[in-house]
Amino acid sequence: MLVVSLGGSPAQRSRSNLLLERSRGWLQRQGVEVVEYRVTDFPAEVLLHARFDSPHVADLRAQVANADGLLVATPVYKASFSGALKTVLDLLPERALENKVVLPLSTGGSKAHLLAVDYALRPVLSALKAEEVLQGVFADDSQIAYGENGAPARYEMALLERLEEALQQFHQALVRRPKVLDKNLLATARWSV
Ligand SMILES: Cc1cc2nc3c(=O)[nH]c(=O)nc-3n(C[C@H](O)[C@H](O)[C@H](O)COP(=O)(O)O)c2cc1C
Repeated sequence: MLVVSLGGSPAQRSRSNLLLERSRGWLQRQGVEVVEYRVTDFPAEVLLHARFDSPHVADLRAQVANADGLLVATPVYKASFSGALKTVLDLLPERALENKVVLPLSTGGSKAHLLAVDYALRPVLSALKAEEVLQGVFADDSQIAYGENGAPARYEMALLERLEEALQQFHQALVRRPKVLDKNLLATARWSV
């Protein structure tokens, strides 16, 4: 089982990325293979000029095509998801998320924008034909404290409980996801009666 993890924050130190890191750890402990991307992995030139032919983009497209699911995290910026994340999603093909399950994670300065993922990111994931977009997890900044001087980050217990519940649902959705038949395998199959 393969999951692509996509971090949408342009910030070096990032709460949404901490949520993503924790989620990756949880999935890996269930035996799920996770490949990791952040918007900052892509040269600005590639994103600003929508270079579909960039090797960075080709690599992401190939991993997404092979993946069973997408774990995507974003900060809330101006009541929406980050523009940097949009520039990456714009480089995926039209049906990139067909047959895939998506779990969105987000962090924001205020609970007032906790629905930003629902009204802003979800339509984009649907446009990419995601099979199932699960109920996401939102944390406000007070629920995640950076660890200073090398200490680990601290999370509010209620947030960790919600995250674990969402990850369990994500894992179950990945397990029950119908296996897509490999077209090449079908073409070369020999049938006998
Ligand atoms: C440019 C910018 C715009 C922001 N706009 C909002 C906003 O509209 N609503 C909100 O709740 N928080 C807003 N925030 C706060 C961030 O969403 C919040 O601090 C988030 O946890 C940052 O995530 P990150 O640490 O992963 O980058 C904004 C922050 C920045 C830098």
